Amino acid sequence: MSTLPISIDRSDSEAEFSATTRSLMTLREQLIIDRPVNSCIRSDSVALFEFFELYAHFVYDFGGYVGALFASLSDLEAKKRIYDNLLEEMGFISSQEVRWELHHGELYRRFLESLRRTQAYRNAIDACRAHELDAQSRDISRRFYEGHQHILRAGNDAVTLAAFSSIEGWVSREYALWRELLAHAGEEMRFLDMRTIDLHCECDIEHCRVLDEILARFVASGDTNASIHAVNAGLLRGVQLSIGLFDDIGPALRPTERAS
Ligand SMILES: [Fe+2]
Repeated sequence: MSTLPISIDRSDSEAEFSATTRSLMTLREQLIIDRPVNSCIRSDSVALFEFFELYAHFVYDFGGYVGALFASLSDLEAKKRIYDNLLEEMGFISSQEVRWELHHGELYRRFLESLRRTQAYRNAIDACRAHELDAQSRDISRRFYEGHQHILRAGNDAVTLAAFSSIEGWVSREYALWRELLAHAGEEMRFLDMRTIDLHCECDIEHCRVLDEILARFVASGDTNASIHAVNAGLLRGVQLSIGLFDDIGPALRPTERAS
């Protein structure tokens, strides 16, 4: 695995995070938004539709990953926060009755179903291609979560949570990009079930903020240098895995979509 140089900024000890940690927190969002695959989907709506298919199993498997993350944590305060996150993934919303259709994987599936009913999608992707994309999506998700499972198994809470925050760090901007692109992909897109996109544009900003609070507590307690290093290492590994996810999706797009 290639690594970027890490230099801990000891002169910035008054701040919640070192300058290096703050840089990694910026990169966890920017490096994903700048991936070449996002340029493809900006310029080609068929690439966008294929992207949504290839991204699907990452979403379907996310709840299982958050459950495993919850189980792996030793720190009780962090565990409590991840519990809230896990419940939300499963479709629990406070003061509302639990409904399967609010499960985040199900919400995404319903979005995809509504997209598949549009003429633009049906003109571009037939059943055979959809089947191919589904198989590729499973592999893409498996490769991504294998990396995160490896981090979980090492059992360092600070590394694990920092790596998790690298996902929450880009979701809201990525989904906001999709919302903008779909708004310009034709009249019929107004019939899409956009709940998954609207929800993630909002709630993952809060998830990321909560995770950063937990990370700040890790940095402030115990051996600060070791904690800073663990948080930075987790961020870096998480960013690498997220880059891998998006760079894995790019080559799976149909060649004409990839060429732009
Ligand atoms: Fe979610």
